[in-house]
Amino acid sequence: PPWAEVITEGKARIIAPKKDLFLRADGIYEPSHAPVFYNPAMVFNRDMAIAFLNMYSKQFARIESASDPMAATGVRGIRIALEVDGISEIILNDIDPQACRVIRLNILLNRISSLSRIYCEDANQLMISLSKSGIHVDYLDMDPYGSPAPYIESAVRYAGIKGVLAITATDLGPLTGRYPSKAFRRYRAYVNFRVDFRKELGLRVLIFNTISKASEHDMALKPLLSYYADHYYRAYFLIDMGASKADQLLARTGYIAVCPSCGYREASRDIVKGIICPLCGSYMALLGPAWLGPLADPEIVRGLASSVDKYVWLETRERIKWLVSMLESEDRIDRPFFYRIDYLARRAKINMPPREKLIECLRSMGYDASRTHFDYIGVKTNADLEDIDRCLKR
Ligand SMILES: C[S@@+](CC[C@H](N)C(=O)[O-])C[C@H]1O[C@@H](n2cnc3c(N)ncnc32)[C@H](O)[C@@H]1O
Repeated sequence: PPWAEVITEGKARIIAPKKDLFLRADGIYEPSHAPVFYNPAMVFNRDMAIAFLNMYSKQFARIESASDPMAATGVRGIRIALEVDGISEIILNDIDPQACRVIRLNILLNRISSLSRIYCEDANQLMISLSKSGIHVDYLDMDPYGSPAPYIESAVRYAGIKGVLAITATDLGPLTGRYPSKAFRRYRAYVNFRVDFRKELGLRVLIFNTISKASEHDMALKPLLSYYADHYYRAYFLIDMGASKADQLLARTGYIAVCPSCGYREASRDIVKGIICPLCGSYMALLGPAWLGPLADPEIVRGLASSVDKYVWLETRERIKWLVSMLESEDRIDRPFFYRIDYLARRAKINMPPREKLIECLRSMGYDASRTHFDYIGVKTNADLEDIDRCLKR
């Protein structure tokens, strides 16, 4: 097409929109203005998928088939076919006929016709009809505009048992509390823009909602890896079957009780007990429901840490290593929230201390403390607020 050019991402050559033709008023490329969506800023998201899949397929369970039911140019699935060892089938789909034409061209350009199937349907309808025909995939990547919530029920039917489901959510406005009524509509959750750890809360609400939809079908979606980056959330789940497995996961969900007066917070599985703040006696707000367990499986994080360097063609390899090392350190701490240092300092009426100094002080008191990937001025710790205050005032 005249509006397109051939670009390279990973090992794929992709027909994608010419950036200069689709600019916002401020001169920045706007992917959603283009006839077919391609966002070069999402290369980290796709690189991460390539690293994850290679590692997972070698160390955990073989991944042979993959699907992107909202494929746009097809870049994600094509990269998976070219860059993940052992892929024998990719199923791509987009509701937009123009996207389907571009996907077909991109499949030809990358010479992978023999292992590709392309559809041009509504993603929900396609996933249900393929699963009714007994077609399932080992890896399903849901990458919609905004929220993946409307697609989860059909996605869990289409992704095979013991397969992996990955979701991207770009609707951080609702999830981080800017639009609470939309968060309630989409996720049936209470969120609050004023809490300092809202970026973590949003991801945990997204995970809860996904697990909970699957649990209605006695399916268990175990979080394997989840994170925040560049204003989106990403979560990978292992799909399993069984009521008791679903119950075990749901046992790790609940609320985060937050005191609006003194900033005290705690994970709360009991919505009655969590109401009164043990520090100042005020009523606490219950946020969530949210996933309260770890954001990543430590074995997955270790697997990634030890394998990323093998994928030398990945443009964002250093960033993957950074994220993995952050998750390794912060996710050890069994608290579903962090503290922003500016918030802590305002609360204690002192100047903001350097992050590393606070972390060192908390560690010297015997607590675990870490930076967090969610926020550069965030600190994750299992210390209680009184001891955090002691460190702040030192
Ligand atoms: C964010 S883009 C996908 C980007 C792509 N996965 C990638 O990695 O570059 C979302 C795509 O979903 C498509 N889409 C929107 N609603 C859909 C639906 N109900 N069924 C299938 N595709 C849909 C859009 O046409 C768009 O191309």
